[in-house]
This record gives sequence, C-alpha cells and structure tokens, in this order.
Amino acid sequence: MSRRTPFIAGNWKMHKTAAEAEAFLQALAGRSFDGVDVAVCVPFTALWAAKRAAGAGVAVYAQTMHEAPDGAFTGEVSAAMLSEVGIDGVVLGHSERRQFFGESDKALQRKVPAALEAGLTPILCVGESEEERDRGDTERKLRTQVQEGLHDVPTARLHEVVIAYEPIWAIGTGKVATPEQAQEACAFCRALVGDRSREAGDRVRVQYGGSMKPGNAAELLALPDVDGGLIGGASLEPDDFAAIAEAAK
Ligand code: 13P
Repeated sequence: MSRRTPFIAGNWKMHKTAAEAEAFLQALAGRSFDGVDVAVCVPFTALWAAKRAAGAGVAVYAQTMHEAPDGAFTGEVSAAMLSEVGIDGVVLGHSERRQFFGESDKALQRKVPAALEAGLTPILCVGESEEERDRGDTERKLRTQVQEGLHDVPTARLHEVVIAYEPIWAIGTGKVATPEQAQEACAFCRALVGDRSREAGDRVRVQYGGSMKPGNAAELLALPDVDGGLIGGASLEPDDFAAIAEAAK
C-alpha cells in the first residue's frame, strides 16, 4: 500500500465561465472525498469564483503562470498574483502550452521553483508524442522534461512537486495508455526524481493523464506508481469527475 495520498485534478482547459465554475463546484458540495486530494484547474477569469464556491475538500489551481515575479509581460500572471487570491497550485508545462504557446523546458526550469516559493503546488506535465513513442524515444523525452523542469528545485522540496505523465497521443483522443504503459512511464518519472533523492522519489506523486474516464480510472489508479489523474474532458461534468475521485479512494 502506498503512503502517497491520491490526487485527482480536473484540467478544464479553456472551458467554463465564472458562473459555470461556480455551478460545478456547488454540484460537488456535500460530497466527501476523504483520503483523496481533489483539485480543479480553471481559467484565470474563473479562479476567484471557483475559490469562493469550492468546499474545503476541493483545491483550486491555475493552468499556467509566468516565471518572473513581475515585469513587462503583457497578458501574463505571476505566481505571487495567484497565491494572493488564494490559489493552491498551478499546472505547468501542459503539452498544449508547450505546443501552442511555446512553453519551453528552460522556462519551466524557472516556473517550477517560482511556484513553490509562492506557496503554490506545481503540477509539472510531461509526456511523449506518438512519433516519439514509436521510435523508442519515450524515456529520453521524459528524462529531459523531468530533469530540466526540476533542475532548480531544492532537493528538500522535490517531493512537493506533482508530476503528471500525459502521453500526448492519449490527450483528448479517447485512446488511453495501457496499464503497462502508464505504470512503466510513471515509475520511470518517479525513478528520475529518485536519482536526485531516494526519499523524494518515494514521496513524489505521479499522476496519469490522457482520456481518463469513470470507466477506466479504477484500473489506472490501482497501478503502484500511479498516484492520481489529471483529467481533461471527463472533469467538465461534476458526476464524472466525482466518480473518478471516488475510484481513487
Ligand atoms: P483528456 O482527459 O481530455 O484526454 O485530457 C487530458 C489532459 O490534457 C489533462 O491535462
């Protein structure tokens, strides 16, 4: 039995207005997620409403942030700005941000420690494309992303980072990693943290993300090195999202 508390996070991406976020969280109210950490990762404009509407058992995360404390970066938001409004954490390095907005491992190297310093829990997303998997480059890709992203995190704080292994070919495609693929990749990410500190490797939580749904969650979440899920599509409906959180218990 793992000592790590399972962590289920819903990544809403560019979905839900503030009013819709509030309605979602009201629909979750009254459910108990004992023994599971639960978070919703919401658009900037809905952060405040979500935080106000979220019960004690649901954390609210942002989906990105800038690495600098302030400056001439039009359109960006800093870690301190998120923590000022009571936000609990932030998704960093999602493959959509890497692909469409040029988020680089170099920027992530600054973002991950900046989030921690501001009191935010970073979820560092990593994962290979289908092409990389087919040519046998999965481990090389994960090694680069994990090592670069965590490079400037002090060893004593490594375990506070959450890693989300999200194979790009499984995101929004309905194609889910097999239990063997998910276990192997999540264990590999953990081992990379373990190379820095055995204790941190043991404690760090690694989520699986990519077409996780109520119907396949239990099998994935039962894997020894899968400590939770980062859920896209299925996190938009309160019942589906709650069913996945239940499966993590
Ligand atoms: P889906 O669950 O829609 O495949 O998205 C996964 C994801 O990208 C979560 O960050």
